[in-house]
Amino acid sequence: MSIQWFPGHMAKAKREAKEKIKLIDVVMELVDARIPLSSRNPVIDEIAKGKPRLILLNKSDLADLAATEQWMSYFKKKNFAVLQIDAQKGTGVQKVPQVVTQLAEPLITKWKSKGMNPRAIRALILGIPNVGKSTIINRLANKRIAKIGDKPGVTKAQQWIKVGKEMELLDTPGILWPKFEDEAVGYRLALTGAIKETIFDFQDTTVFLLKYLREAYPERLKDRYQLDEIPEDIVELYDVIGRKRGCLMAGGQIDYDRVAELLFREFRSGTLGNISLEYPPKLS
Ligand code: G4P
Repeated sequence: MSIQWFPGHMAKAKREAKEKIKLIDVVMELVDARIPLSSRNPVIDEIAKGKPRLILLNKSDLADLAATEQWMSYFKKKNFAVLQIDAQKGTGVQKVPQVVTQLAEPLITKWKSKGMNPRAIRALILGIPNVGKSTIINRLANKRIAKIGDKPGVTKAQQWIKVGKEMELLDTPGILWPKFEDEAVGYRLALTGAIKETIFDFQDTTVFLLKYLREAYPERLKDRYQLDEIPEDIVELYDVIGRKRGCLMAGGQIDYDRVAELLFREFRSGTLGNISLEYPPKLS
């Protein structure tokens, strides 16, 4: 799981990622399909500069398909190669080697023009903690690779894993830190599991969730908690859900901690259905 990132950790992670990138031809950037912008590292463009890049929208099994489709066009319009995948079940992962090889085509042409024999295309997975890096490496490798700790500097001997005939994958991912600057980004990261549960406030996070659901998925809220209408006032909404679900203290008062925990668990477990926590900004 995630660590708390300090400037020293970040500098080290960045240095390590840059070292790894020197060895590779194509960067695969893994993001969470439910929060594709919030789960991107803030300096990824600098780190991956000059390398062809494939964005992988992972955990797409938990995201809202309509939102994921919008994200696919968003990234395509920005000239990124992009795939939606579910690394856990393997859906979409089989397309990865083909797209990586396509992205390396200019390089292969260059090698050939210099009279060199093309070698396997070398790729690397980069992403923030818990986004699914180990899972996709295992999928692509078709075997279980030991999970390394989410701490920059926890290194082991690196190896290349053969993926099909034309691609090699570095068996250790580049671990990057998440964004911190924006409160909403923090809530999205907390809700999707990129930030440790001990370091965020359940109530604030679920107030954010409820406000978002009220805007983006009102019908889901109504269905799940059997609400005829959604109260305007967020405390009232908490109260109604608390009463419906029996989150009460002695004396019949609402136990807000329990309501918050219930909402958080129900979102995390997918009980509220496939939900995306952010939609692409409109491109001009
Ligand atoms: P990391 O190396 O980037 O840190 O992530 P890792 O592969 O360990 O994956 C983190 C969690 O996300 C794992 O769950 C993993 O099974 C899950 N995961 C990865 N890809 C997908 C996906 O496409 N869909 C879904 N639904 N889950 C995925 P875990 O071990 O149970 O951890 P946690 O969820 O309890 O934190």
